[in-house]
Amino acid sequence: MTPITSVWATGQQQSRTQRRGRYLPESMKHPGKMLPSIAAQVIDTYTQPGELVIDPMCGIGTTLVEAVHLGRHAAGMEYEEGWAKLAVANLAHARRQGATGFGTVIAGDARGIARLLPDLVSRAALVLTSPPYGSATHGHIRATRDSGEPGIRKWNQRYSRDRANLAHQGLPVLLDGFAQILSGCGELLRPGGVVAMTVRPYRHRGELVDLPGHVQKVAQRAGLVFADRIVCLLCGLGHGKLLNRASFFQLYEARKGRARGLPIHATAHEDLLVFTKPQPLNKTASTVQRAADPT
Ligand SMILES: C[S@@+](CC[C@H](N)C(=O)[O-])C[C@H]1O[C@@H](n2cnc3c(N)ncnc32)[C@H](O)[C@@H]1O
Repeated sequence: MTPITSVWATGQQQSRTQRRGRYLPESMKHPGKMLPSIAAQVIDTYTQPGELVIDPMCGIGTTLVEAVHLGRHAAGMEYEEGWAKLAVANLAHARRQGATGFGTVIAGDARGIARLLPDLVSRAALVLTSPPYGSATHGHIRATRDSGEPGIRKWNQRYSRDRANLAHQGLPVLLDGFAQILSGCGELLRPGGVVAMTVRPYRHRGELVDLPGHVQKVAQRAGLVFADRIVCLLCGLGHGKLLNRASFFQLYEARKGRARGLPIHATAHEDLLVFTKPQPLNKTASTVQRAADPT
């Protein structure tokens, strides 16, 4: 695969603006959504109209909605039934707005995705997903200044209270889960298909966790071949300056770290890691070559 432009200006509009009218308003309650512009650009880059796009951890269905608007078909899996239902409702909303692709969503644990979706084995052109992690930086807040009440009120910061959700696991179990999901997704890809995942480094108790680096190793162990790493901007590009779109929590964590002497910055991008499924060896060609070998 030829490497493509490595920085995408995907943060020109705020997340809320990108979703207005295109997604049902209750979608904003999900704590860790992918930017629609990132999903749309990945789908446009790696697939053709009529092809199948899968998201194994689809949340409220951003990948699926952008896929059907671009004339692709989409299938999603989501552990939490509530988010899965909202993804279905967002897909119906997209169809009402004229999207031409079809989408389906199944509530389930994506660690068994190839077993749960046997009809889709070897069918997908693209698997696009964003995994759960670093829940400390999610959610909505209202400070005393806005609410008039003492302290900071925080809400919508959890995917659920189910401890089995991968969002609530420590790093080893999380990575083991990613390995199972990526290996299953590899089975769903057609030869030459692509897996793309957005991830960011995050801090856990002040320590930097290189999640993109971990995901790269896990994907390679799952049989995928690393192809590209693209920077998807979350900040906007203004007249000669970056337009900050960091959340309250990112700024709060950065300030807290700096007060302790750590040189922390608020992240203004997501890493998009791109992997391919290796093509199967052509057995006929290798047999012919061996027969012609004089030794
Ligand atoms: C970062 S969010 C994905 C959001 C999605 N890209 C969107 O824009 O709506 C990760 C999702 O993975 C789900 N999840 C966690 N463990 C899972 C599992 N084992 N199988 C499937 N989904 C899971 C979470 O409930 C959460 O909704």
